[in-house]
Amino acid sequence: MDKTGRKLYVRTFGCQMNVYDSERMVEALGNAGYIETNHPQDADMILLNTCHIREKAAEKVYSELGRFRELKQKNADLKIGVAGCVAQAEGAEIMRRQPLVDIVVGPQSYHRLPEMEARARRGEKAVDTEFPAEDKFQSLRNRPRAYRGPAAFLTVQEGCDKFCAFCVVPYTRGAEASRPPARVVAEARELVDSGVREITLLGQNVNAYLGNGPDQKKWPLARLIHELSKIDGLERLRYTTSHPRDMGGDLIEAHGECEKLMPYLHLPVQSGSDRILKRMNRGHTADEYLELVCRIRKARPDILLSGDFIVGFPEETDDDFQATLDLVSEVGYGNAFSFKYSARPGTPAAERRQVDEDVKSDRLRKLQELVRRQQNAVQHAMIGREVDVLFEKPGRLPGQMVGKSDHLHAVHVNDEFVRIGDLSRVRIVASMSNSLEGRIAT
Ligand code: SAH
Ligand code: SF4
Ligand code: F3S
Repeated sequence: MDKTGRKLYVRTFGCQMNVYDSERMVEALGNAGYIETNHPQDADMILLNTCHIREKAAEKVYSELGRFRELKQKNADLKIGVAGCVAQAEGAEIMRRQPLVDIVVGPQSYHRLPEMEARARRGEKAVDTEFPAEDKFQSLRNRPRAYRGPAAFLTVQEGCDKFCAFCVVPYTRGAEASRPPARVVAEARELVDSGVREITLLGQNVNAYLGNGPDQKKWPLARLIHELSKIDGLERLRYTTSHPRDMGGDLIEAHGECEKLMPYLHLPVQSGSDRILKRMNRGHTADEYLELVCRIRKARPDILLSGDFIVGFPEETDDDFQATLDLVSEVGYGNAFSFKYSARPGTPAAERRQVDEDVKSDRLRKLQELVRRQQNAVQHAMIGREVDVLFEKPGRLPGQMVGKSDHLHAVHVNDEFVRIGDLSRVRIVASMSNSLEGRIAT
């Protein structure tokens, strides 16, 4: 079969970094002659970019793979690859459990994908879950980034050294590593030249960023943000996910100083109980987090905060959970993600006394109710206000266009004159469950 014109279908699970990685893998395999398709039945190669964060996320991979059995029977040339954090954590296991898999590639080995693909074509099984020393992204960046819309992700930092007792990320992504600022700036410029107007800097602990600057100095995230904000045509900057322990004074100040830095911050705390925070190995107390929130709000009073919470962490009592509810009430989140604790093999907390599933479900429901009330209140308060919206895609209904406000609210308008990539002033007229409705302000 001709090497060119082969079709690649990629399915992405998990966090935004996986979204970024999937795009890079499409580009890497583009060099090997692949073009992307949205239909698995047309594909010559299917790649699942997987997530290992909770048990359910990991199980999805196996059920998804089962669905591709029929396709492989129909097309003997079809190759199936598993990438991402499940590949890293369970590489050999996947090959054993699911013989249809040809390629297993961990997150630090994506630049080796074209060579692995060639091996798979020769009928070999290819597994790579090493943590090589070379800069994966630099080797991956052998073709320009394709324009995928006015808002783009850009990975600047990867890996985690924090070892929270519940979390697989330090094992699946490896140690903290930062890309040099010069490369980040070059990639940002390329994005802006292609029409991108908003960039979200990504890292598992993005505010632990410390890149080797061209001036032989170590650049923290705040300095990188100031440098990126000088790029003409780049209108908005965001970053995620940040850890409370790495929220330095310079970064907090940047929220007050840098106009392009949007007033939204995802700052996970996981629990409001000091006892649980300690057992989680988070490295801070609830009061320290609250104090941080105060300082951030002082620098940028209209900032909207979001967080992540885990309920039913081993040994969490009703009082501990109440402390989480109290913290949520005190902070007032614009948005929050809450999860039932999921025991992950190989992490310290998996070995401890577990909380009953019913108790976890009950706590999750209570927390989500509280968060929903806060989210509704914040959204409702936007009605009548004018916000800037960067339009990203058509909405579900004809004539509808959807974008994001400065505060990361999804906003839709019914206006045939609005184009993708427009950054427009919009008056909010209504609040729905997960979005706002607006009209272009004239
Ligand atoms: N680096 C980020 C989190 C990445 S994982 C940070 O430190 O905040 C995203 C979220 O998944 C976490 O914030 C946590 O709330 C949740 N999570 C991680 N491991 C989990 C587990 N074992 N069970 C349930 N939720 C988990
Ligand atoms: Fe996981 Fe904790 Fe690292 Fe976040 S900081 S990725 S929760 S170990
Ligand atoms: Fe999942 Fe890996 Fe991201 S475990 S959340 S895909 S870092």
